[in-house]
Amino acid sequence: MGKNGGTISGRINVAIDGPAGAGKSTVARKVAEQLGYIYIDTGAMYRAVAYAAIGAGITPDDSDKLGRLVQTLNIVLAPGGEGQTVWLNGENVTAAIRTREVTLIVSQIASHEAVRLNLVQLQRELADSKGIVMDGRDIGTHVLPNAEVKVFLVASVQVRALRRFQELSGKEAVPLQQLEREIAERDQSDERREISPLIRANDAEVIDSTELTIDQVVARILDLCRTKTVEAK
Ligand code: DC
Repeated sequence: MGKNGGTISGRINVAIDGPAGAGKSTVARKVAEQLGYIYIDTGAMYRAVAYAAIGAGITPDDSDKLGRLVQTLNIVLAPGGEGQTVWLNGENVTAAIRTREVTLIVSQIASHEAVRLNLVQLQRELADSKGIVMDGRDIGTHVLPNAEVKVFLVASVQVRALRRFQELSGKEAVPLQQLEREIAERDQSDERREISPLIRANDAEVIDSTELTIDQVVARILDLCRTKTVEAK
């Protein structure tokens, strides 16, 4: 039972969607921690495919090869210290999937139907037993349309680029303006793709994190979870 187990009974699924850098993974992890739920970062799965494609020398536009590649991949997300550990065919790729090389191609990798079909099936299986907080782009609209709580988390491009800049400082020196440009491009690519584009579900609650702290966003989502659990009783 989670820290709020006294007020939250029965397990629900929580879907958190939104553009890159809106704070989804940090927030989703904390919400899961508070509820005693499992956090699933679906972006990490697409990143693992992108990483595997680079290793196999497959270009991000090669639908056929990517479709075959994804079927050979065993992606496991294991809860661990900072977020979760990502395993790809037995290799710990937690750090490797966060490089810029992966970040720059992952949106294109995620635009292929064969890749999405495979990962969405895995995501649905993981959510089957409820008690899941899942973040991504299409969770509320497509992966878990029946999720009891749906959040669409947004923030200005400037704030998202700044957060990414601070995250990268000391690791990779990338000018802030370049990050802003890249984030805006990734938004466009995620929003405009034909299959499961990034779009708010009609029944999702929009939370703008531009001027909120992480803890304030987490508190808002936990409130939604309480309401839904009470309604579901
Ligand atoms: O959340 P992230 O930045 O790690 O996601 C990496 C990429 O994967 C992002 O460009 C969009 C894509 N993605 C997706 O298409 N659908 C999801 N459910 C999650 C991520």
